[in-house]
Amino acid sequence: MEILILAASLLALLATAVLIGTMGRPWRLFTAFGESVRGIWANRWPLGWITASVLLVLGLLYFYYLPPGTRIGPEQPIAFSHRLHAGDKAIDCRFCHPYVERSNHPGLPAVEKCLYCHNYIIANHPEILKEHEYYDTDTPTPWVKVFIMPEHVLFNHQRHLLSGIDCAACHGEVRQMDRLQERRLKMGFCIECHREKKATLDCWLSCHN
Ligand code: HEC
Ligand code: HEC
Ligand code: HEC
Ligand code: HEC
Repeated sequence: MEILILAASLLALLATAVLIGTMGRPWRLFTAFGESVRGIWANRWPLGWITASVLLVLGLLYFYYLPPGTRIGPEQPIAFSHRLHAGDKAIDCRFCHPYVERSNHPGLPAVEKCLYCHNYIIANHPEILKEHEYYDTDTPTPWVKVFIMPEHVLFNHQRHLLSGIDCAACHGEVRQMDRLQERRLKMGFCIECHREKKATLDCWLSCHN
C-alpha cells in the first residue's frame, strides 16, 4: 500500500516538475528535442528547468530521508505502539519479548501480558476491549509479522545478544516507531555485519539448515 502512495506521489511530483519546466506547456518537452540549443536558451527555458530540478531533487530527498516514525508498517489487529510503550513509557523489550534470548522462535507477547497492565490502565479504551475479545475467545492475537526471513535460514538471537549487539542494530529504532515497518531480510543483511564484525561467513554450514 505504502509503495503505491509513494509511486503516485513521485509521479505527481514529476508531472509538476515537467509542467513548471515547460512553463505550463508539457508538449514542449517533445518538440524541444527538434529545436536548436540556441532556441531553448532564447526561450527563458532554463529558469523553469532550474526551478523544476531543484523541486524534484528536494522531493526525492524528502522521500529518501523521511524520518523513521513516518514510514509506517502494516496495520496491526490492535493499534499497538512501540513508541508509546518502549519509548515514552520505557517498558523493557524483554518484559514483552522474554524468550528472545532462549528460543529460535521467540514469538510475540500473549494478550495476558497486555492485560496485566490494561486491566487497570485505560481499561475501557476500544483497542483494549479488542484485547478482551481475543482473551475471552482464546484466540491468539493475529499480529502481522514484519521481520521476514526466508524459510530455510535458521536464526538464533542468543549468540548475537551475548556478544553485546543491541536490538536496534538489527531492528532499527523501534522505540521511535508507532507501527513497525515491514522488512524482508536478505542474506546481505547477515553477511554485511558478519564481515564487519569478523564473525563466521561460513553460512552454508551454520545458517542454512
Ligand atoms: C543480529 C540481529 C538481531 C538482533 C541484535 C536482534 N534481533 Fe530480533 N530478530 C532478528 C531476525 C533476523 C529476526 C527474524 C527471525 C525469524 O523470522 O525467524 C528477528 C525476530 C525478532 C522477533 C520476532 C520473533 C517471532 O517469533 O516472530 C522479536 C520479537 C525480536 N526479534 C525481538 C528482538 C529484541 C527484543 C532484541 C533485543 C533484545 C532483538 N530482537 C535483537 C535479528 C535480530
Ligand atoms: C507495563 C504496562 C503495559 C503493558 C504490559 C502494555 N501496555 Fe499498553 N499502555 C500502557 C500505558 C501506560 C499506556 C498509556 C495509557 C494512557 O494513555 O493513559 C498504554 C496505552 C495503550 C494503548 C492506547 C494507545 C492510544 O493511542 O491511546 C493501546 C492500544 C495499548 N496500550 C495496547 C497494548 C497492547 C496490545 C499490549 C500488549 C502487547 C500492551 N498495551 C501492553 C501500559 C502497558
Ligand atoms: C508492551 C509490550 C512490548 C514492548 C515493551 C516491546 N514490544 Fe516489541 N512487540 C510487541 C507486540 C505486541 C508486537 C507485535 C505487533 C507489532 O509488530 O507491532 C511486537 C513486535 C516486535 C517486533 C516485530 C516482530 C515481527 O517479526 O513481527 C520486533 C522486532 C520487536 N517487537 C522488538 C522490540 C524491541 C527491540 C523492543 C524494545 C525496544 C520491544 N519490542 C518492546 C510488544 C512489545
Ligand atoms: C549486527 C550484526 C549482525 C547481524 C545483522 C547478524 N549477525 Fe550473526 N553474528 C554476529 C556476531 C558478532 C556473531 C559472533 C558472536 C560470537 O562469536 O559470540 C554472530 C554469530 C552468528 C552465528 C553463530 C556462528 C557460530 O560460530 O556458531 C550464526 C549462526 C549467525 N550469526 C547467523 C546470522 C544470521 C542467519 C543472520 C541474518 C539473519 C545474522 N547472523 C545477522 C553479528 C551479526
